[in-house]
Amino acid sequence: MNQEMQDRIEASVTRVFKAVFPDTTNHHNTMFGGTVMSMMDEIAFMTATRFCRKGIVTVSSDKIDFNKAIPAGTLIELIGKVTYVGRTSLKVRVDIFIEDMYSDRREKAVSGTFTLVAIDKETNKPVMVLS
Ligand SMILES: CC(C)(COP(=O)(O)OP(=O)(O)OC[C@H]1O[C@@H](n2cnc3c(N)ncnc32)[C@H](O)[C@@H]1OP(=O)(O)O)[C@@H](O)C(=O)NCCC(=O)NCCS
Repeated sequence: MNQEMQDRIEASVTRVFKAVFPDTTNHHNTMFGGTVMSMMDEIAFMTATRFCRKGIVTVSSDKIDFNKAIPAGTLIELIGKVTYVGRTSLKVRVDIFIEDMYSDRREKAVSGTFTLVAIDKETNKPVMVLS
């Protein structure tokens, strides 16, 4: 991978914090998995868009590991990073970290990888990721 590509990957790393309020939790008082996946897809979309500045759609997601429950009343940080660039597709890894609100404790909770495709905004057909 050349330096320009690496610089582009670093520049498009996308970080978003959210407060885990009751509107995102389930009856166990932890985040609902479907909501987590939706947030991850959105971060993957933003990361891919910022990487190539083209129309982007999600075509696939790899295994998503929910290693820790995310309790209500914590903060989460979602981080998206491009890990592979194909011809018209790219892969984005998304990690979620839990942070306590009232201490410096932080741990990784969830991770997964999404494949997204660059598309022409008129025809919706795949186009080169970088051109
Ligand atoms: C994404 C889409 C435009 C791809 O169209 P397509 O005719 O399958 O295109 P291609 O076969 O040329 O594949 C395009 C790229 O996607 C990759 N790809 C296609 N299907 C894939 C899959 N299931 N998993 C991983 N990669 C896939 C191909 O390997 C190719 O990558 P490359 O160019 O880097 O080698 C089309 O499948 C689509 O519109 N899907 C719906 C997307 C959508 O609406 N997402 C929102 C969620 S519902």
